[in-house]
Amino acid sequence: MKTIVTVVGARPQFVKCAPVSRELRKKFHEVLIHTGQHYDADMSDVFFKELGIPKPDINLHIGSGSHGAQTGLMLIRLEEEIQKIAPDLVLIYGDTNSTLAGALVAAKLHIPVAHVEAGLRSFDRMMPEEVNRVMADHLSSLLFCPTQTAVDNLMQEGISSGVFLTGDVMVDALRSAMNTVNPDSAIGINGDYYLATIHRPSNTDDSATLGRILQALNDIDHPVLFPVHPRTRASMEKWGVEPAKYSNIRMIDPQPYTAMIRLMGNARAVLTDSGGVQKEAYMLRKPCVTLRENTEWIETVNSGWNVLTGPDYNRIISAVKRVDNLPDWDGNIYGDGKTAGRICEIVDNFFINNI
Ligand code: UD1
Repeated sequence: MKTIVTVVGARPQFVKCAPVSRELRKKFHEVLIHTGQHYDADMSDVFFKELGIPKPDINLHIGSGSHGAQTGLMLIRLEEEIQKIAPDLVLIYGDTNSTLAGALVAAKLHIPVAHVEAGLRSFDRMMPEEVNRVMADHLSSLLFCPTQTAVDNLMQEGISSGVFLTGDVMVDALRSAMNTVNPDSAIGINGDYYLATIHRPSNTDDSATLGRILQALNDIDHPVLFPVHPRTRASMEKWGVEPAKYSNIRMIDPQPYTAMIRLMGNARAVLTDSGGVQKEAYMLRKPCVTLRENTEWIETVNSGWNVLTGPDYNRIISAVKRVDNLPDWDGNIYGDGKTAGRICEIVDNFFINNI
């Protein structure tokens, strides 16, 4: 039986690997390595439990650090483990430092790399994730693209072999979560509300920028429910931000996946700088205001359901005013929810053809 090492480390990767691991384990021996990039119980453990992800076989407990230190430690520890396991393939997800480290270690050990969520581009190299994506794609033998835009981006960079338009595994994850989410259950806040998430370094690492965003959230027409990412909480503490000053914003801990889906499903609209949340909002037919100047999920913007505002106070306020005016919705942009099975089949064919 072929062995696949899956490398995950951060919250969005747990969500993506849940449906894929389930499929892979029907046919292959999967060894799950958690780098420990995200380590708080509400950023990690709760996702494994709730999504039924097998307990990681290995947890490297790398934790936080500068990009170089965090990625460097991952390289050292992943190389040791992957060398011992000698897998037939290394599977990586998305665009985090854990993605980059997994890709680099495998490529240097001459082990083929498969990248789930390949071809995404924001064309903004100031985003650490963009650097990780470009590197990971160029090191991968199998590239699983969620959209045609992603396939086209790879073509532009001269990558055409091993590229597959599979759809997005987040649709698979969302569909299976919807079976367990009761859309009418308590929402934690009365009446109409917006749901907000902010964690990108460009929005959280500068006090004036973070202050402008919080002020905009405080001044919009309905209360804002705001699950606060640890990076953002740390920045708020560092800048001495007093939550009590923002009476329109209700700050809560990071939420488990199904709770987040439920909160999104019941919100008037979503304000976010996350990649995944933009897509989830679209899939749940919720208007989205993206607090960035660019997005790799350009289909949501082209559809009219997502507006880019950057961290600009006036643009945020006026984008929120437009959320009642919604165009047609195409439910198939990100695939049919059967992406994990498709990925598994492609991996199987890859093994057969490379014997
Ligand atoms: C990372 C990913 C990003 C992804 C995001 C999802 C990179 C470069 N970025 O960003 O692509 O969208 O995860 O959340 O890999 N911290 C805790 N507890 C935790 C995790 C983090 O306290 O469980 C704090 C630490 O202070 C850390 C900071 O959050 O320094 C940021 O964590 P880090 O892993 O560097 O990146 P994220 O901002 O979470």
